Amino acid sequence: MKVITVTGARPNMMKVSPLIDEMRRHKGLNPILLHTGQHYDEKMSKVFFDDLSLPEPDIYLGVGSGSHAEQAARVMVKFEKVLLSERPDMVLVVGDVNSTMACAITAAKLHIPLAHVEAGLRSFDRRMPEEVNRIITDSVSDYLFTTSEDANVNLKREGISDDKIFFVGNVMIDTLLRHLRGAEMSDIIHRLNVKEREYALLTVHRPSNVDGKDSLGEILDALLYIQNKIKVIFPLHPRTLKMIKEHGFLSFMRDMKNLITVDPLGYLEFLRLMNYARFVLTDSGGIQEETTILKIPCLTLRENTERPVTVTEGTNVIVGNCKDRIIKEVENILNNGGKTGRIPQLWDGKAAERIVDIIVRKATDGHG
Ligand code: UD1
Repeated sequence: MKVITVTGARPNMMKVSPLIDEMRRHKGLNPILLHTGQHYDEKMSKVFFDDLSLPEPDIYLGVGSGSHAEQAARVMVKFEKVLLSERPDMVLVVGDVNSTMACAITAAKLHIPLAHVEAGLRSFDRRMPEEVNRIITDSVSDYLFTTSEDANVNLKREGISDDKIFFVGNVMIDTLLRHLRGAEMSDIIHRLNVKEREYALLTVHRPSNVDGKDSLGEILDALLYIQNKIKVIFPLHPRTLKMIKEHGFLSFMRDMKNLITVDPLGYLEFLRLMNYARFVLTDSGGIQEETTILKIPCLTLRENTERPVTVTEGTNVIVGNCKDRIIKEVENILNNGGKTGRIPQLWDGKAAERIVDIIVRKATDGHG
């Protein structure tokens, strides 16, 4: 059974890694790894292949950056050619980036069975490009693998039949648990000259936060206050750096004495930093889940989350992007310690195993 697994952007890499490993263990499976090239920089892509010991992609589409329509269209045109020549038995996509959606549509139109890992997440905010990607991908998928029960509820509400939905847990957590020890070997804490629990970690890259001068300015105003209380490490996504320059905030940031800006970090370095942070501020999806497992307080710089289980059970608090609210919650953590939470159901390191078992079983039953 030939399965093409798609990766495209940074947050896909840690999701495909345990799936590829698990598929390689099954004799009857022939896993092919395809990289669309949505992320192409050394620090946004290659470092993850190295850190996660991912095999070189079998197929590289090299689509690069562009508007959403350009990027998705380039993926579709190139992926269709691959599907016509490779004729896989299944396409497996993960997450919610443009590459996920573009490959899903292409596979569905060629009637190739399609599996979506991390299905059913909904922020109910369609201005978020990822929300559109999630809805489209789920609507054309044949196997919908979910990370939490709320995702099952979302899918059923959208009319997706029960027999397509499988609650399997979280592949991102498989990867995290597997690499915790490796992360301990990183000397990043020493290199950045910080001490365990005496720094905060910040990531922000969503268009809704960084593209507009007001929202970015508000977050940087909060940062000015926070770094007076505790050192802050801020790895800069390429989009964020570009917008900081465009909006003229570079010198404002240079004056922040306790702020440490760095290039985007590799998986192991970032995991080490998260695990020893006092708290994390982020607008990423995956980091909300990772901090929940690590029991590190997380403040999410958004108005909503497609991962509500990280709030109801984990360490996450939704704070939006207004300075006063952010500062209030930071003070709360500094004075009272922040949320500790509990581990969500099936986030146990075995999600990829469950997914591959289901795929193999269905294929053997002839439903694939
Ligand atoms: C994408 C995903 C987002 C994910 C994020 C993680 C979509 C819609 N968004 O957003 O869900 O959280 O990845 O990083 O798919 N760039 C580089 N080098 C690269 C890649 C991008 O410099 O290797 C720059 C380019 O200027 C590009 C911009 O970053 O235009 C944005 O890249 P893009 O892939 O369009 O979206 P992200 O903001 O990275």
